[in-house]
Amino acid sequence: MSSSPDNNYRFEQAGASDDSIQQVHAQLQKQKPDKKNGYSFLPLGVLGLMCSSVFFGSIYLAHYSVRFDPLVVNESAKREKPGAVVVTAVPPAVLGKKVFTTICAACHQVTGLGVPGIYPPLAGSEWAQGNEERIIRIVLHGLNGPITVEGKDYTNAMASLGTVLKDEQIANALTYVRQEWGNKAPEVKAETVARIRAEVGPRTAPWTSAELLKIGQ
Ligand code: HEC
Repeated sequence: MSSSPDNNYRFEQAGASDDSIQQVHAQLQKQKPDKKNGYSFLPLGVLGLMCSSVFFGSIYLAHYSVRFDPLVVNESAKREKPGAVVVTAVPPAVLGKKVFTTICAACHQVTGLGVPGIYPPLAGSEWAQGNEERIIRIVLHGLNGPITVEGKDYTNAMASLGTVLKDEQIANALTYVRQEWGNKAPEVKAETVARIRAEVGPRTAPWTSAELLKIGQ
């Protein structure tokens, strides 16, 4: 770059002479890495550290992250082994609702209120929430004759359902009945239904309420 003394005066930056540039270059040249000693290991070490943190970081993520979906990630989610089948048990009352609506609701109604004078209510019923020994027998073998439910008398008959329904279906339906519409009574187990079925044996005659009231007194 040629420069007149005038320019030198105005723009000192641009005033470097060829000599001065060469001097600066010579100095920079001296600072280049010493070929004999090779490259400094510091930048290589830093590079190595970065590589390994990316490497182990991705292993960590692959192992501990759930999915790379911001809507799905749940840090407290349990990690299941890949291919494991997760079985969530359906509550007995939920299974029992199906049996109830397909079979029992025809008479006792979906509301559990029954039909006045004909079908007694299960909602609020002292029988439904009472001794399980009695109501299991009603469903297994049927009920005949007078019965008082919530202070009202019914003289009708309920057919036996023991040959139509399995132990588990009876248990689930009764569990539903005992825990729906504000009813509060413990679950009925399929084992209890099986035990009573075996204890009673081959009975075809329906129960009477007087007979049932003697059980579990
Ligand atoms: C065909 C109609 C009919 C069906 C279906 C029926 N019931 Fe009944 N149920 C009756 C009648 C009628 C009585 C009262 C019988 C009597 O008057 O002696 C009764 C009585 C009862 C009682 C005792 C009284 C009460 O109201 O608490 C229970 C408990 C009961 N049923 C539960 C069930 C369950 C559970 C089912 C389904 C698995 C079922 N019933 C299906 C008609 C039926």
